[in-house]
This record gives sequence, structure tokens and C-alpha cells, in this order.
Amino acid sequence: MKIYMAEHRGFCYGVKRAVDMALNSVDKDRPVHTLGPIIHNPQMVSHLKHKGIESADKLEDIPAGKVIIRSHGVGPDVYLKAKDKNLEIVDATCPHVKKAQQAAYELLKSGYQVVIVGECHHPEVQSIIAWSNNQAKVVETPDEANQLPHYPRLGVVSQTTFAADEFQTIISILKTKCDELKIERTICTATDLRQKAAIDLAKKVDVMIVVGGKSSANTARLASVCRDAGHKAYHIESASELKSEWFAGVQSAGITAGASTPDWVIEEVYAKMEQMTMNEVVTPEPGSIVKG
Ligand code: F3S
Repeated sequence: MKIYMAEHRGFCYGVKRAVDMALNSVDKDRPVHTLGPIIHNPQMVSHLKHKGIESADKLEDIPAGKVIIRSHGVGPDVYLKAKDKNLEIVDATCPHVKKAQQAAYELLKSGYQVVIVGECHHPEVQSIIAWSNNQAKVVETPDEANQLPHYPRLGVVSQTTFAADEFQTIISILKTKCDELKIERTICTATDLRQKAAIDLAKKVDVMIVVGGKSSANTARLASVCRDAGHKAYHIESASELKSEWFAGVQSAGITAGASTPDWVIEEVYAKMEQMTMNEVVTPEPGSIVKG
């Protein structure tokens, strides 16, 4: 079996930066916490724990030392509270998310009703809402856009990982909901590149293995875009979930991974797949040559 890797896979720029900043924050003398898990990947969370970096759900749970703001970002109130507690802030907010937060803030100041196109409960969207002084409306579907009343001025930002085509559909509805529409384009291309590369590879192989945390929305989406395009895809969190029957009679397999999947997890999956192929149980015909 031949194994191929998707051209764009694994850590995006913002996640890699956040993980590097966290690892550089290790401090023997003071406690170091991330505010929420640094990424949706249990292996990385336990790797950081091993290095002495704990994950705390709330600032109240961090008594002293450093607090690492993850790539999703947080609202202005969190910076203020952290300063009040004398915590050292390591701000690993992805610069693309920062841009969306700043855009929401500026639109609010200029008198626009802010609309965030995204998933209401996503931590990044929550952080953008906070930068709009909790005034923003969140719209995830065309239906929700249709339900908005008419406003004189609407200012739109989007969740960085929102699908570009769905964003355009929602924009065309928002145009009918106001007298003036200002659009800040804050979609990041990392998600799109991973999805396109996954579909490109899925077309060339018999089966796709999608690696990433089970609670990582972008990893789940990679598996669903492959399936929606009619290809077989399995979503696994680690190499231990691979099943040899998935590769029975398979000539080629592809691997991709969500934006929060560390390289070493991808490499373990690759190595295990290679090993599975080599150890394939072949019942030889008398006189035949068995490979491996
Ligand atoms: Fe940033 Fe885009 Fe990744 S917004 S965290 S580089 S998906």
C-alpha cells in the first residue's frame, strides 16, 4: 500500500505560534497556565502538562505566575482581570483573530451594528463578541441572517475559520437588511487550504485517514468534506485507533490532519500504517513469493 500525505495538513500558523509561545513560557520558579486547553488536542495538552504547563478553565483558578492566552483570543475584560491579579500575560492570540477583534471594536466605535458570521459558542467568536462590548449579533446560517431586523448601518466580521462560500451567501442576505453595509474580510485561508488539499488527495487514493482531536471542529470538517465528495474517510485521534480491515485490498491511502494536530501524532499514524501493511497477514499460495 502506498501512503500519501496531504500537501497542507496539521498545525496552522496561529496554532504553531501559540504552542511555541507556550513551550517558551516554561518557568521553573512560577506556575504557568493556559486559559483553556491550548488546542483541541489531548496529546498536546498532556505534553504541556508534562512540561509544567497546566490548563485552567477560568482566571479565578490561576493564583499567580503566567497566563497564556490561546490562539482563539479573549475579550478585553480578561486582560484587565489578569493585570489586576498581577499575572504575566503571554498573548498567543492568532494575529488573524486579533484583526477580527480589532475590526469589531472599530466598527462598534464608528456606530455600526456589528454582525459576526460564525458559530455562536466558538471561543474565538465569544472573544470577538467581547471586543464589540457584547453588542454584536452572531449569524451562522442564511436563515439566521434573514431573521435580523433592518439596521441603518451593519458592520460585518467573520470567524476566521468560516467557509468562504457560506460567508458570501450570508453577505448577500445582509445587504438587504441595512442601508449601509461594511464588510471586514477576516477569513483565514488555512482551513480552506487544508480542505482543498484533503479533497485533492482523496480523489487519488482509496481511503483517507483524518487525524485530529475528536472535539476539533476543523478536523471533523476535513473528514466530512472528503465523505461529501464521495470518498471513504476515517477520523482518528491517534495511531492506536487504526484498524487493519480499513486497508484490506487497498492500494493507496492518504493522510491529512486538522490545524490542531501535532506533527508527531501524524508521524505515528504514518508509521503504524506502514507497519500494518508490512505485517499484513498473507496466506501464500504454495510456491509464491511473499513480500515484507
Ligand atoms: Fe490563525 Fe487561521 Fe490558524 S486564524 S489559528 S492561522 S486557522
